[in-house]
Amino acid sequence: MPRPAFAHDGIAFGCDYNPEQWDRDVWDEDIRLMREAGVDLVALNIFGWSHIEPRPGEFAFEALDDILGRLHAAGIAVNLGTGTASTPAWLTTRHPEILPMAEDGTRRYPGGRQAWCPSSPAYRAASLRLVEAVAERYGTHPAVTLWHVSNELGCHNALCYCDDSAAAFRVWLADRYGDIATLNRAWGTAFWSQTYGEWDEILPPRAALSARNPGQLLDFHRFSSDAVRSQYRAEAEVLRRMSDVPVTTNFMVTAHIENMDYWTWADEMDVIANDHYLDHRLGDPVSELAFAADLSRGLAEGAPWMLMEHSTGAVNWQPLNLAKDPGQLVRNSLTHVARGADAVCFFQWRASVQGAEKFHSAMLPHAGTDSALWREVVELGRIVEDLREVAGSRVVAEMAMVFSWESWWAADTECRPSHALGYLDQVHATYAALHSLGLTVDVVRPGADLSAYRLVVVPGLHLVRAAEAAVLVDWVVAGGTAVVTFSSGIVDEEDRVWAGGYTGPFREMLGIHVEEFAPVAPGVDLALTDGSRATLWSERLRATTATALAAFADGPAAGSAALTRNAWGEGTAYYIATLLDPAALRAVLAEAADAAGVAPAATTDAPAGVVDLVRRRGDDASYLFVINPSAHPVTVDVRGHEIVTATTIEDALVVPAGTARVVREETVS
Ligand code: GLA
Repeated sequence: MPRPAFAHDGIAFGCDYNPEQWDRDVWDEDIRLMREAGVDLVALNIFGWSHIEPRPGEFAFEALDDILGRLHAAGIAVNLGTGTASTPAWLTTRHPEILPMAEDGTRRYPGGRQAWCPSSPAYRAASLRLVEAVAERYGTHPAVTLWHVSNELGCHNALCYCDDSAAAFRVWLADRYGDIATLNRAWGTAFWSQTYGEWDEILPPRAALSARNPGQLLDFHRFSSDAVRSQYRAEAEVLRRMSDVPVTTNFMVTAHIENMDYWTWADEMDVIANDHYLDHRLGDPVSELAFAADLSRGLAEGAPWMLMEHSTGAVNWQPLNLAKDPGQLVRNSLTHVARGADAVCFFQWRASVQGAEKFHSAMLPHAGTDSALWREVVELGRIVEDLREVAGSRVVAEMAMVFSWESWWAADTECRPSHALGYLDQVHATYAALHSLGLTVDVVRPGADLSAYRLVVVPGLHLVRAAEAAVLVDWVVAGGTAVVTFSSGIVDEEDRVWAGGYTGPFREMLGIHVEEFAPVAPGVDLALTDGSRATLWSERLRATTATALAAFADGPAAGSAALTRNAWGEGTAYYIATLLDPAALRAVLAEAADAAGVAPAATTDAPAGVVDLVRRRGDDASYLFVINPSAHPVTVDVRGHEIVTATTIEDALVVPAGTARVVREETVS
């Protein structure tokens, strides 16, 4: 049966709303101000469990009834939480076995949130009883247009090492491997006398005195992602049985939740929803924002998706929580919309005055409505409303980048060539270079159909199955241009090295023979023969059929090729054997994009990397998004109707410093 789609008039504008933190006399003001800001979708009951089930099996829905009714009367739709994200005190007091166990065998106590083991039968039973009660009460409520299962599933509790988890892990392994001999082979337990004779001998990879079995660690990641997903499935199953409203949960696709392989989750969502927060600990947080948005669209297979949470200003959980600059709220929001988001929502509506998040920004700040932040929120609401015609249109990219959670887990394992470099470092550096070239990038899973693309970039795809590699190789043979970076094609699905020269199943296509990794210490600069600089990584490799475009001029791999290009079939495959500095990486990717005929969505007078350009295409029009974070105006070669300022653009579009514009183009190109 086809699943219900999330239906909303235009682009949704909204927030998490936690009315339980406030007296009811505040609620009327909340709703009045929500209407003033243009809020038309709020997420309720996200952390509601102890309010709606104050004692075991005793439900108290009066307050939730009241606020749902008030929101509905005001024309504000509700994205209703199942309320299972954070357990009430009575539950973990009665069932302490629900509390998650860390890898050292110590329990984590309640007092924060998400203090539950994903494999706990007691948690599962109690949570589903709650979901049944919520679905029964609100499954046909006219305000409810979306179900919000739990909250950021796996954010804190993905990896639990308790006995319930051990039992579930064994069941999962038996299902995967069938017999213990197959598991022993898969995990390479011949090493260090680790061979298992019985399933009961297997434990989660609890803290050990030395490095643990990497095959076991990898499978524990897979199991844990599946265990958390099974909680989603169980809740969604109850909701779908009792209600026709579409179901989703909020993902957190990059820097913060490493433990969910969302490629295996995406099909279960009626709409993809993502939460994104700028992380100022990263080198280029704005490019990471764009990457997360492109990855969200990838999970949605190109369909519109929802930005379920972001912040109006500072968060509260980084060491230094930066406020947004004037104009940044609009720019960040439209960066998501440009990349396919049909919802712009925030955590949260009214800034809390108590609790761990009291210093987190909100739509309505502590300062109240007499504040620049509130005025920006209202302005953003107006822009989102004006962009209603954009809803439903899609981004069309000519190039893709491959992203893999399994590679992240496998590459960043305990014993590896260099701890100075992780999987995400390569992904972010590569994406940042593409972003600075102004290229529109689809993010795809390993093995995805590549036929729509002319250029495919593969950063550090450490773990690759033969069949996944074959898709890329066949696509290159048929004429595609690929750029593969080091640490790709290192292990198979069982974390077994593809021996015979690194890059394994990509080796022939790349026309190289990599003999040895030669990482270098942080702070050591490597020179290449073409004048480029690089850091952290080199390899001893020789070109077999490839042309060496540059070699290492110094360092432990001096004389080896560092950058190669191989003609393969009708196509071309580049290989980058080091972490190039940003300018050099940009130059290589620019050459590949040029060769493949891939260009930015429009031309501008701004230097490369200054302005973000993305096109969404609808049935009747196309929309060019231009985001200019720089301190200077930029001019873009586009004609049509500019929606943010309601202006006709006859000649060229001038985008003032720090602003964002959206042009409905005259023709669908
Ligand atoms: C996550 C959670 C929210 C809130 C925000 C704060 O996204 O889903 O409940 O804690 O972080 O940034």
